[in-house]
Amino acid sequence: MEIQFDKAASLKEKPQDESKLGFGQIFTDYMFEMRYTEGQGWHDPRICAFEEFEMSPASNVLHYSQEVFEGLKAYRTPDGGISLFRAPDNFARMNRSAHRMAMPPIDEEFVHEALRQLVRTERDWVPHSDGTSLYIRPNYIGIGDYLGVSAAEEYIFYIICSPSGAYYAHGLAPVRILIETDYARAAKGGTGFAKTGGNYAASLIAGVEAHEKGCDQVLWLDAAERKYIQEVGSMNIMFVIDGKVVTPPLDGTILAGITRDSVLQIARSKGIPVEERYITVDEVIDGARSGALTEAFGTGTAAVVSPIGEFSYKDEIIPISSGDGLALDFYETLTGIQYGRQDDPFGWTEKIS
Ligand code: COI
Repeated sequence: MEIQFDKAASLKEKPQDESKLGFGQIFTDYMFEMRYTEGQGWHDPRICAFEEFEMSPASNVLHYSQEVFEGLKAYRTPDGGISLFRAPDNFARMNRSAHRMAMPPIDEEFVHEALRQLVRTERDWVPHSDGTSLYIRPNYIGIGDYLGVSAAEEYIFYIICSPSGAYYAHGLAPVRILIETDYARAAKGGTGFAKTGGNYAASLIAGVEAHEKGCDQVLWLDAAERKYIQEVGSMNIMFVIDGKVVTPPLDGTILAGITRDSVLQIARSKGIPVEERYITVDEVIDGARSGALTEAFGTGTAAVVSPIGEFSYKDEIIPISSGDGLALDFYETLTGIQYGRQDDPFGWTEKIS
């Protein structure tokens, strides 16, 4: 398929002050879009102006949340070029999510090429300052005109781009996380591993209540017993216990984070022991009290590596770390590779401009 280029009628002004970008608030001039129709397959791929598109008020995504999405970034390298980070892994994960949501697969190679073309079109939107990047959001939604509960027969896949700074408003400062003991995010056999909007919608009320208690986000426990650590929702979670990096296993209830995998590979390459295993909330609390647990941090595309300063658990504040241990080391190595400031022995980066 040829990707058509539809020139935008006018271009927006680019942000002048990159220190005020925030996360996901500004969108570039163009997006990529293609459509799927049962019997015809994918068709009409195009790079076109970022603007509203039409869909039926009966669209599946609006009623039954048939949708999956991804998050990745384009980085400005020291020579002024642009590189992508592990894009094939995002599109492979998108297909795993899509399969769970009964959506037809995307052609991973094709959407990767579409992404390259879009980012090259928007190269001037990739910010230059430290800690900023072009956040890329591929989104894939079921549309059509039918209210029966079944998979849609028509879909839109699109990619939008947003020049962004740090995900958390206070940048790299350690976050305070509420350990959620009431609501649950994902049960085995459910959609926890899929990057699908419903998982996030189900988490919002807990986020609101966490903010009211002065916390940045929620740490989810398993749905059956509220005993085992799962993830934070916008990021996977890791702990440093007795000098080892410990993180919950990919058992279908948590997202298979690409940053999670990158940090684990970086840890192993530095000779730091890694354990992917179940961790109880009691182990975390007891470990923080005894000093066996020295750090906790989140990993995610948007969040990068975010140190956790404190947990709030059953109305008690449990101090964890100031964020300058292994979390900082992993942050420096990961972002060094992503921004092309250091070698990429893993082959994760792709220079596209
Ligand atoms: C990401 O890290 O890219 C995410 O998608 C997490 C969140 C912003 C939804």
